[in-house]
Formats: sequence, structure tokens, C-alpha cells
Amino acid sequence: MKKLFFIFHILCFLLLNGFLHAQTMNRYRFEVKEAQYTRLCSTKNILTVNGSFPGPTLYARRGESFIVDVFNQGSYNITIHWHGVKMLRYPWTDGPEYITQCPIPPGGNFSQKVVLSTEEGTLWWHAHSNWTRATVHGAIVIYPFLNMSYPFPKPQAEFPIIIGEWWKVDIQTLYYAFLRTGGDPNTSDALTINGQPGDLYNCSSQDTFKIAVDKGKTYMLRIINVMMQELAFFGVAGHNLTVVGTDAAYTKQFTSSYIAISPGQTMDVLLSANQNPDNYYMAAKVLESTPFIGYDNTTTTAIVQYNGNYTPSVPPPSPASLATMIRMPKPPSQDVCGASRTNLILFHLKSLVPM
Ligand SMILES: *[C@@H]1O[C@H](CO)[C@@H](O)[C@H](O)[C@H]1NC(C)=O
Ligand SMILES: *[C@@H]1O[C@H](CO)[C@@H](O)[C@H](O)[C@H]1NC(C)=O
Ligand SMILES: *[C@@H]1O[C@H](CO)[C@@H](O)[C@H](O)[C@H]1NC(C)=O
Ligand SMILES: *[C@@H]1O[C@H](CO)[C@@H](O)[C@H](O)[C@H]1NC(C)=O
Ligand SMILES: *[C@@H]1O[C@H](CO)[C@@H](O)[C@H](O)[C@H]1NC(C)=O
Ligand SMILES: *[C@@H]1O[C@H](CO)[C@@H](O)[C@H](O)[C@H]1NC(C)=O
Ligand SMILES: *[C@@H]1O[C@H](CO)[C@@H](O)[C@H](O)[C@H]1NC(C)=O
Ligand SMILES: *[C@@H]1O[C@H](CO)[C@@H](O)[C@H](O)[C@H]1NC(C)=O
Ligand SMILES: *[C@@H]1O[C@H](CO)[C@@H](O)[C@H](O)[C@H]1NC(C)=O
Repeated sequence: MKKLFFIFHILCFLLLNGFLHAQTMNRYRFEVKEAQYTRLCSTKNILTVNGSFPGPTLYARRGESFIVDVFNQGSYNITIHWHGVKMLRYPWTDGPEYITQCPIPPGGNFSQKVVLSTEEGTLWWHAHSNWTRATVHGAIVIYPFLNMSYPFPKPQAEFPIIIGEWWKVDIQTLYYAFLRTGGDPNTSDALTINGQPGDLYNCSSQDTFKIAVDKGKTYMLRIINVMMQELAFFGVAGHNLTVVGTDAAYTKQFTSSYIAISPGQTMDVLLSANQNPDNYYMAAKVLESTPFIGYDNTTTTAIVQYNGNYTPSVPPPSPASLATMIRMPKPPSQDVCGASRTNLILFHLKSLVPM
């Protein structure tokens, strides 16, 4: 009898414990569905979460877990991947279809548990099959523990800045076309910041993404490159950027007039609104990796708009570094440890060849 009572106690404890955990875990609802979007005077249906492009931002604290109930109301098998989340001891709902889980079929649903551990900063989520991630993506903002603060003064406000791409053609059509030919995908028709190409494109001047700032305050941009395969440059006219974190980890801080950010990467940067009140472009463009491969050479812009009474410059100033941003700076040519850099690279390549 005593033994039974003991087991009953344990069961109650486990149940209650599970209940409390379920109570404290945040739950989000993702409805994956088509929505009609118009960009560059051209309208098409895109796959979205909750009809929004980019999709909703998720907020969490370091070490938390949360659940996303995904309802697939679209017409493709999908899964959602939590890009950069380590999922320690819980790889089961990490997203890649047929690797950690079955795809969620059209009409189906699945609750994906996301287990954060040491990640702190910015990550992102995206759909994981056949380029659906081109439009099905969003930010994950991970704040410090409640009892901790940022390792820099708390910014006045924070903004996810999602650098993406837009094709006028349907994404699946594009995807199957390049699979068929084995070649490169057609270059995109526009780059986007938070879903908007910006006013340097024809037929795109409305709805440019804007942030409002007060002179003298500092802001955090949580920049995410969600492009399919392009490295992006990003800068803000007349302002420096101080990089404080990347891929949900803090970095040694450094200041630069622009950043280079790889596809899938995130960078948290501080922007001090220390210039004359005006409108300033923030802009992104793509790395020209070789002059022989076509790429989208357009420039996407958004606007940093100072609060106050003034007559803004038209058009706003562009980042001065923009003109030089299309190529990687050449590495310094001096010798490294007495050897030429090329020889060192060849040496390391050779060391990869099995003996
Ligand atoms: C998505 O949309 C549904 C239905 O409108 C809503 O209940 C849910 O809160 C939304 N999810 C997010 C993460 O915003
Ligand atoms: C993705 O494309 C592959 C290759 O064409 C196809 O076999 C597969 O069914 C597609 N997957 C989904 C989820 O649509
Ligand atoms: C969708 O996923 C199911 C398994 O969940 C699979 O049987 C089916 O073939 C998939 N369809 C496509 C088009 O990939
Ligand atoms: C979710 O899918 C399951 C089958 O996997 C089904 O039994 C359930 O009714 C679905 N839930 C909703 C809310 O649609
Ligand atoms: C802050 O909170 C976390 C999680 O609740 C805890 O692990 C950590 O020990 C706390 N740190 C301090 C300095 O109190
Ligand atoms: C790719 O571009 C070529 C040349 O402009 C065009 O003929 C073709 O239809 C495009 N394919 C897709 C899938 O958009
Ligand atoms: C905008 O349209 C004009 C006139 O049709 C054209 O000359 C120009 O190249 C277009 N610019 C862009 C960026 O597409
Ligand atoms: C940006 O940093 C450079 C190098 O540190 C400095 O010379 C320049 O004055 C800074 N510009 C602004 C707007 O703070
Ligand atoms: C961008 O690429 C297009 C097509 O390849 C070319 O006609 C145009 O001159 C390029 N523009 C710039 C600014 O390099």
C-alpha cells in the first residue's frame, strides 16, 4: 500500500511538472498558405506563413523552449526549419524533411518543439523544401536571460532587417526550370529589405520599408540574409555600423561602414543616429563573384528617417560604400609567415588529399 502511494505521488509530481512546463512554454500558430502579393507591378501567389511576407517574428529568451503548431494549408509538403537553433538532445523536429522528420502534407498539421540553449541574438526560421524558403521565412529574436542584459547599452529600439529576393515568376516554376536544365536559376528581379524592393526600382516606390529614429539614440538592426544563394553587402548612408553579434552569439565588437553577410547568416549591428536629421538610405546589393556569371546587380533600399521638422533630401543620400560593395576586398598581398599566401593555400589544399 505504501509503495502504491509512493508511485501515485511520483505520478502526480510528473503530471503536475509536465503541466507546469506546458503552461510556461510559449505556443505559436503558423498557418502556411498562399497569399497574393504585388511587387514591381506584377502580381502572383506566394506561399507564406499567416499571409505575411516576410513571416511573423518569434520572440524568446535564452534557454527557453517553445512550440510552433504548423498547419499546412498550402499545396506542397513542407517542414519548418529553425535555422541555427542547436536543438540540444532534441533533434526530432529540426525541420529538414526526410532527415529529422516527415514533411507535413497539404491539409496536415504538426507541432514543432524548438529547444533553445546557448543561442542569444538573432536566428531565423524558414520552410525547408524546394525553395519554398524564398517566401516562407521570418526572424527569431532571442533575448538574454531575464536577469541579464546585453553586453552593450540597451538600444532605443530594435528592427529585424531581412534581406531577400523577389522573382516575378512563381518560385516552384523557377525551381523546376533550373533543375531541368542543371544550370543556374534565373537571376531575381529585385532584392528586398523586409519584403520591399525600395524606390530605386520601377513601380516600387510605395511601401518602402522605413525606420524612424531620434537623433542621439542608438538602434539595433537584426540583419538576416534570407537570399537563396547570394552573399549580400549592406550599409546605411552617412552612418557606421557596429557589429555586436552574429548567428545568435556575441562577437568582439567592431565598426565598419558596411557589412558582408552570407546566405543564412545573421548579424546584429548597432546604428547610432548621430547625423543631421534627414532621410538616409539603407541599401543592400549582391557580391559579384565572377564577371562571367550573371547576378542580380540591382540595389534594394529602405529608409532611416529621423524624427523632427526638416526638409528631407530627395532622393535620400546613398551609402558611399555602395559603389565599392560589389566585390570582395582583395586580401593583402604580403607574405604570411615567410610564405606567399597562394603557396599556403595550395599547401593546405594538398593536405586535404589522402596520402
Ligand atoms: C497566425 O495567424 C493565426 C490566425 O490568424 C493567429 O491566431 C496566430 O496568432 C498567428 N501567428 C503568429 C505567430 O503571429
Ligand atoms: C521537391 O522536388 C523534388 C524533385 O523534383 C520532388 O521529387 C519532390 O517531390 C519535391 N518535394 C516537395 C516537398 O514538393
Ligand atoms: C509528401 O510527403 C509524403 C509523406 O509525408 C510522401 O508520401 C509524399 O510522396 C510527399 N509528396 C511529395 C510531392 O513529395
Ligand atoms: C492535426 O492533425 C491530426 C492528424 O495528424 C488530426 O487528427 C487533427 O485533427 C489535426 N488538428 C487540427 C486542429 O486540424
Ligand atoms: C540568471 O538566470 C538563469 C536562468 O534562469 C540562471 O541559470 C542563472 O544562474 C542566473 N544568473 C544569475 C547571475 O543570477
Ligand atoms: C528564365 O529567363 C529566360 C531568359 O530571359 C526566359 O526565357 C525563361 O522563361 C526564364 N525562366 C523562368 C522559369 O522564369
Ligand atoms: C525603369 O523603366 C524605364 C522605362 O521603361 C527603363 O528605361 C529603366 O531601365 C527601368 N529601370 C529599372 C531599374 O528597371
Ligand atoms: C565611421 O568610422 C570611421 C572609421 O572609424 C570614422 O572615420 C568616421 O568618422 C565614422 N563615421 C561616422 C558617421 O561615425
Ligand atoms: C546590370 O545587369 C544588366 C543585365 O546583365 C546590365 O544590362 C546592366 O548594365 C547592369 N547594370 C549595372 C549597374 O551594372
